[in-house]
Amino acid sequence: MSLNSLILQHSPVEAIEFNGQGLWLKRDDLLDRYFSGNKARKFAYFLQQAELEGGKLIGYGSAQANTLLSLAALAKLKQASLDFYVQHLPQFLVDHPSGNYQHALALGANIKCLPETIKGEQIEPYLREWQQHHEPASVLISEGGRMAEARYGVAQLAQEIQQWCEQQGLSRLNLVLPSGTGTTALFLQQCLRDQPSIAIQVFTCPCVGSPDYLVQQFRSLSQDQRDFPYIVTPKKKYHFGKLYRPCIEVWQQLLQQTQVEFDLLYDPIAWLTIMPWLTQQDATTPIMYLHQGGVLGNETMLGRYRRKYPDLF
Ligand SMILES: Cc1ncc(COP(=O)(O)O)c(C=O)c1O
Repeated sequence: MSLNSLILQHSPVEAIEFNGQGLWLKRDDLLDRYFSGNKARKFAYFLQQAELEGGKLIGYGSAQANTLLSLAALAKLKQASLDFYVQHLPQFLVDHPSGNYQHALALGANIKCLPETIKGEQIEPYLREWQQHHEPASVLISEGGRMAEARYGVAQLAQEIQQWCEQQGLSRLNLVLPSGTGTTALFLQQCLRDQPSIAIQVFTCPCVGSPDYLVQQFRSLSQDQRDFPYIVTPKKKYHFGKLYRPCIEVWQQLLQQTQVEFDLLYDPIAWLTIMPWLTQQDATTPIMYLHQGGVLGNETMLGRYRRKYPDLF
């Protein structure tokens, strides 16, 4: 695998144009094939932790989660093991491994099912208790990397963006990224606010749950409202992981016009929600879009899209 200690060197920034709008694209998807995007940033803290060497990581989430793949890559790099708990493992996936699940298995992840009675909010306390009794030396990672340790790597990203602005001689920047847990957006805004020379405003939209839910997530990480990114509310309600014709259409247009493959779960919602809104509000401040990786999970999403909208392929 391509992982090495260089992964957190500056990711490139490219100039792109989409539907006539010029903007900057921060390519965190290019950090590494397996350990890329915001997971690389959120888990960077563990990458530099010597104690993890040869130890055990415990994670949980869906069997196709980007977190699963990134934790599998992190475990491999640290010569540690990964036990990743899922609520449900579809038999079809076991018989025909694909996407993040397949890559994570190849990297040596142990994917385990939780007891059927343990659901939703109960999962983390259940695993924490289990860990304390059975694997006290292991490291338990919260779902999607929503944890204080994530700030370490996101702060490095913030510093890269700030340095890039300085090199470009920019005094203002609008930074756009979609949110799941909101961890990346919140820590970015926290690290970038109060910059004396550059005004950087973070714009995000919720892709998992409502705007209120996203604010709740922000509050679990910071009590200071100045750390909260500006939330743009999607015009329609998107259910996470569901297939929407406008999402695959905008994804295809992006690929065609920019030659960049974006992720299919989060990015289309941001391109449909934030970009048109922001360009109407403020046409003068340069925009940077943060590509947060996740493209290895596209394989399974594309298969589903092909079956649902064959006329688009
Ligand atoms: C590709 C991609 N984009 C966006 C997000 C949302 O990130 P966060 O949970 O930090 O809001 C994720 C999840 O981590 C992701 O994998």
